[in-house]
Amino acid sequence: MNIDAYRRKYAYGEDYGTSDFKFGPITLGEVPDIIENRGYMPDTSSIMYKITGEVKRVVVGPEIPFYLEAREDLTQRMVYPMRNGIVEKNDERAWSVIYEITKYGLQKHASKTSDFNGFYVTAALSIISPKYMYERIFEVHERVDEETGLVKAVTIIPQPLAVAIAQKKPTCVVLESGHGNTQISPISRYPIRRAILTINRGGNDANIITAEILKDNGYGDLAQEEKLVRMVKESIGLVPRDLDQAIQKAKEDPDRFRAVFKVPGTKIVIDLGENSWMRFLIGEYIFDPTHEIFESYWKRGMPRPRDVKVGDTIVSGVMDMADAIIEAVQRCPVELQPYLYREVLLSGGNFAWKVPEEMKDVVVDAAEKIKLMMDRKGIGGVKVTLTKDPQYSVWRGCIVYSVAVPDEYEWNWERMEGWLKLH
Ligand SMILES: Nc1ncnc2c1ncn2[C@@H]1O[C@H](COP(=O)(O)OP(=O)(O)OP(=O)(O)O)[C@@H](O)[C@H]1O
Ligand SMILES: [Mg+2]
Repeated sequence: MNIDAYRRKYAYGEDYGTSDFKFGPITLGEVPDIIENRGYMPDTSSIMYKITGEVKRVVVGPEIPFYLEAREDLTQRMVYPMRNGIVEKNDERAWSVIYEITKYGLQKHASKTSDFNGFYVTAALSIISPKYMYERIFEVHERVDEETGLVKAVTIIPQPLAVAIAQKKPTCVVLESGHGNTQISPISRYPIRRAILTINRGGNDANIITAEILKDNGYGDLAQEEKLVRMVKESIGLVPRDLDQAIQKAKEDPDRFRAVFKVPGTKIVIDLGENSWMRFLIGEYIFDPTHEIFESYWKRGMPRPRDVKVGDTIVSGVMDMADAIIEAVQRCPVELQPYLYREVLLSGGNFAWKVPEEMKDVVVDAAEKIKLMMDRKGIGGVKVTLTKDPQYSVWRGCIVYSVAVPDEYEWNWERMEGWLKLH
């Protein structure tokens, strides 16, 4: 087998997300493997470890629940290495988690075929990743390869580029909305750096308002549990075509819009009853938190999406998404702008809002919502595409990239492209 055939056979993708790490080889097909991007540092001084002789510094993946000690310092021992897609430069605990999840994935999917001599790994990072992130991600792979021989070559690409690649759209605007934030990247062959905009609003903010709604409805104790809040959000949260109309309809006919969630494996049932209209606030908050109704939540102390400062411009955490697209496109050459509006791609789990069949008159999906918002700003004819399984499109782009970039193309720090060969 020649080297490029080998590379295509052993293509491997990694999408480092704030909440979830998506990873795995080309043989998985459409859906990657997925674990939470977190690690647990057990207290190895405990007597159990002395008896069993086990030395485990960082636990990741599905093993975590078996190590959880019934302790109050759980939050100190559980490390979530990323904030808005970024790992702090000198946060060694965080980097050790990145190392462990990377190694976990590669070892889990190591091929047993006799010709296997390591993967061609494409890793995807946030578009706003500083250079040290690239350096350290390379180092992590070097270390894993030294120990296991599982990485033949590695390269790194920005997440929005991965999406454009997976959709085969060289000219487009990609909105990548994950747990931490939303990256808006005009792309013309490569992301146009000076036009990129990041809004500090993502799935986590939808969790925050969901928790607030739970509290207001008497489920304050449940609102403490991050994982549960996320489940409730994904189950009852809806994106309204028009918030005011949706609220009005739901108040007139609460039964049709009733938000009920039964916590799996327990006897707990969450029921918003008369307040079921509040489910529309969850989806709307992601797309457009400028509606006055959200003011009252902030006034009562709900944390507001923070502003981000990039260079000398400040991007408001509560900017609506249509304004953000327009702002990003307007930073591109005028001649290019019409082509960018023609192709808007939505990816990331925070765009995966569902549309119950019986509510189609009031509820829309993410693509329809953005289109409506653009129309209202006077920009018609925008084609908005929601990628299939939006949470996985970055990973799919990584696989396509591993397959497409020839082996002789070596990593170059100026171009930020090519393979770094490890063995
Ligand atoms: N069906 C759904 N409805 C609403 N939200 C969803 C749905 N499915 C997933 N999400 C949300 O998407 C987020 C995770 O998406 P994704 O995996 O793209 O983020 P990430 O890659 O971990 O984060 P980031 O890209 O910001 O670093 C979570 O907040 C999750 O609750
Ligand atoms: Mg992501």
